[in-house]
Amino acid sequence: MQTLFTAREIAERVQRLGDEISRDFQDSPLTVIGVLHGSVVFVADLMRAIATPHQLGFVTASSYRGTATAPEELRLDLDSLPDLAGRNVLLVDDILDTGRTLSALTVRLAECEPRAVRTAVLLWKKERTETVIMPDYVGFEIPNRFVVGYGLDFNGDYRHLPYIGVLD
Ligand code: IMP
Ligand code: MG
Repeated sequence: MQTLFTAREIAERVQRLGDEISRDFQDSPLTVIGVLHGSVVFVADLMRAIATPHQLGFVTASSYRGTATAPEELRLDLDSLPDLAGRNVLLVDDILDTGRTLSALTVRLAECEPRAVRTAVLLWKKERTETVIMPDYVGFEIPNRFVVGYGLDFNGDYRHLPYIGVLD
């Protein structure tokens, strides 16, 4: 497997994102929300790089491949979220691909009446993004290749890798 970003490169970038987020949310209550399962490693590192006190929550998003006639269905589960009313929300995902996941989650989170919703992704396949969503914080822009590691999987495998690699 070809390494795209080493553990050290990821750690340095995540710390810089954390510094930026700390500055931006200094004076307002913040809740960081990870999108399961892909964001767990990124969220765990990012929250320790954010010096501003904040709360943590998770939502689940999963895509199910439809039949030949039905399109892929996106399932969202927001049942275990803490109260977000009046708080700044930072929605964190591993990768922004078509943008469907973060667009749908942003709409659903707005129903919880937060003060504002911002988004952070470690990776952005910019040329693939179909929706109007613009992530507020981006670790790295990457080409249209399938990547694994640091939380990202292929059929449930490879999430444990400390680096990000291109799967052939
Ligand atoms: P989107 O809704 O198309 O933006 O898809 C985002 C989700 O697709 C991510 O949260 C990942 O779970 C998955 N995904 C997209 N590209 C990759 C990849 O290269 N490797 C692993 N998962 C990916
Ligand atoms: Mg995901």
